[in-house]
Amino acid sequence: MPQIKAQGQIFTCEPGANLRQVLLKQGIALHNDRSQWINCRGIGTCGTCAVQIVAAGAVPLEMAVSAPQWRETTRRSLPPHSLTQDRRLACQTQVYGDIEVTKYDGFWGQGEQVRWLPQS
Ligand code: FES
Repeated sequence: MPQIKAQGQIFTCEPGANLRQVLLKQGIALHNDRSQWINCRGIGTCGTCAVQIVAAGAVPLEMAVSAPQWRETTRRSLPPHSLTQDRRLACQTQVYGDIEVTKYDGFWGQGEQVRWLPQS
């Protein structure tokens, strides 16, 4: 079972689980501030579920999570997001290996200040 570290919690999920659904089920504050009420509920259009993901085990990131598809790439190519930023949309990401998740500030999670880390 893949292991996820986020906001000071460590938990597992089924292989292929949707990262947004798993984080919300665990009570992780995935959406910053008012975006917890104003978001697309996981259809990949609002961009407020953006997080940074790194591989935590021996499996490389490319195998630990699904590759970005056109919906995510399209949203992340639009401001305030940028494809040059190291972010993924949790609602468009399936988890297959151990990962650590970091959330940044800003309505869309597009900022540079850490909101929460994997371990805190
Ligand atoms: S919840 Fe809207 S893009 Fe992920």
